[in-house]
Amino acid sequence: MTRDTIAIIPVAGVGTRLRPHTHTLPKVLLHVAGKPILAHILDDLPALGISRAVLIVGYMGELVREYVDGHYRNLHVDYVEQPERLGLGHAVSLAEPFAGDRSVLIILGDTIFEADLEGVLAGGQDSIGVKAVADPRRFGIVEADGQGRVTRMVEKPEEPTSNLAITGIYYFTRGRPLFEALAEIQRKDIRTRGEFQLTDAMQLLVANGAVITTFPVQGWYDCGKTETLLETNRVLLDKRAQPVQIPGSVVHDPVLVAAGATVENCILGPHVSVAAGALLRNSVVRDSIVNERATVEDIMLESSVVGENAVVRGGFRRVNVGDSSEVFFT
Ligand code: UTP
Repeated sequence: MTRDTIAIIPVAGVGTRLRPHTHTLPKVLLHVAGKPILAHILDDLPALGISRAVLIVGYMGELVREYVDGHYRNLHVDYVEQPERLGLGHAVSLAEPFAGDRSVLIILGDTIFEADLEGVLAGGQDSIGVKAVADPRRFGIVEADGQGRVTRMVEKPEEPTSNLAITGIYYFTRGRPLFEALAEIQRKDIRTRGEFQLTDAMQLLVANGAVITTFPVQGWYDCGKTETLLETNRVLLDKRAQPVQIPGSVVHDPVLVAAGATVENCILGPHVSVAAGALLRNSVVRDSIVNERATVEDIMLESSVVGENAVVRGGFRRVNVGDSSEVFFT
């Protein structure tokens, strides 16, 4: 089935928390569990009947465009430049010329989700994905009534009144009211923490009587910093990786080795993702992501992210240790 829904995916951010990787690559092109973060999102669209997307690009937008145009010929993608990072609300408002009054599915470009989106789209109601969290102060939160209708939304509250976090996936049956609310917060200069927030625009809609419901997000995998990227890698490999055999190497599943990567004489895994063109030789690697064309040789690595074209080379140590000595390499 083809739907008239358009996906809006903001990917303009600088990804400062993922430096040094984001010095040379936009965050959404970093690999996790076998493919770029953005690919996890785009690959799910056809099954939802969505064939159009608007990407809000900014930092290293050209690289995002090159990747998407090269890999997603069947998806009609438009790009809008966000010249200044004025916030998520501002980013989404830039999609208006393409989305108009169509239904829109907004997905943050640096987060991977598991939720019943098919059910959400079929439900025909404005609805936002939520998940209960332990520390709601770090997130936008929603308060809902007994029927799951949103009564109030607050971005990063100091004193949270709910533990339902806004995860970063939103469905609106019509674009127009949302774009009007986004225009209003910009006209009135309503900012939270200096930025035009999508949450503030949605709160405006709710305050004006709009009915917005919530839907549960089962899997919510953040990729915003190295630790969460590695955690997402672990969780997704546990769920999705097939057993792997590499002649001449020992594999502890789950691992994912892209076609075109070379692995020789290694002990790999668990939880290793190796991108195309990478070379791993004489090494022990676990809980790590090795990006495209990187080289890892003669070394033991764990909890590591090796960037594209990077070289990590160790060596064997030489000792001449007397009887009853103790030597520790830490
Ligand atoms: P984040 O604030 O988490 O991402 O925005 P960031 O700015 O890239 O990362 P840091 O904080 O510098 O490490 C969540 C998503 O919204 C997009 C980002 O690209 C990211 O995908 N975004 C955010 C925009 O496109 N424009 C904005 O003005 C703000």
